[in-house]
Amino acid sequence: MATILLLNGPNLNLLGSREPELYGAQTLDDIEEGLAELAQGSGHELDCFQSNSEGELVDKIHASAAADFAICNLGAYTHTSIAIRDALLATGIGFIEVHISNVHAREDFRHRNLVGDIAIGSVVGLGTYGYALALQAAMHALDDE
Ligand code: DQA
Repeated sequence: MATILLLNGPNLNLLGSREPELYGAQTLDDIEEGLAELAQGSGHELDCFQSNSEGELVDKIHASAAADFAICNLGAYTHTSIAIRDALLATGIGFIEVHISNVHAREDFRHRNLVGDIAIGSVVGLGTYGYALALQAAMHALDDE
C-alpha cells in the first residue's frame, strides 16, 4: 500500500464558490472524498492537506518525505515560491502537478512556473477532473515500481 499526498495551496479551500466559471462547482471536500475512494479502491492511501500559507506547505512537504508520491496544486505559489520548489527538491518526492484552469491561456504571470520542470508531469486545464487523472497516473507509476 502506497501513501499518496494530495497537496493543495492557497485559495483552493474556496473551490465550488471561487470563480466557478474557471474552477468548476466541486468543493475541495468533494474532490478529496472522490480521490480517497479511488485510491482506496486500488489499495492506496490518500493524505489530503490544504493550506493558504507557504510555510505550512513547506512543513507538510518536509513531514511527507516518506510519502510514495504527491499530487500538487500549489495555486499561486506555483508562480512565485522558490521555498516550495526547494522543499520538493529536498525531499525528492515524485509528484504530478495539477492546474484546474489552463494557466497557459491566462495572464502572463501565470506562465512562470517554478515547479513544472521538477514534476514528473503536469495535468493542466482539464478542470477538477485533472486531479483524478493525476491520481490514476500516480497509481499506474506506483504499480510499475
Ligand atoms: C491554479 C492556477 C493558478 O494560477 C491560480 O493562482 C490558482 C489555481 C489552477 O488550479 O488552475 O490558485 O493553480
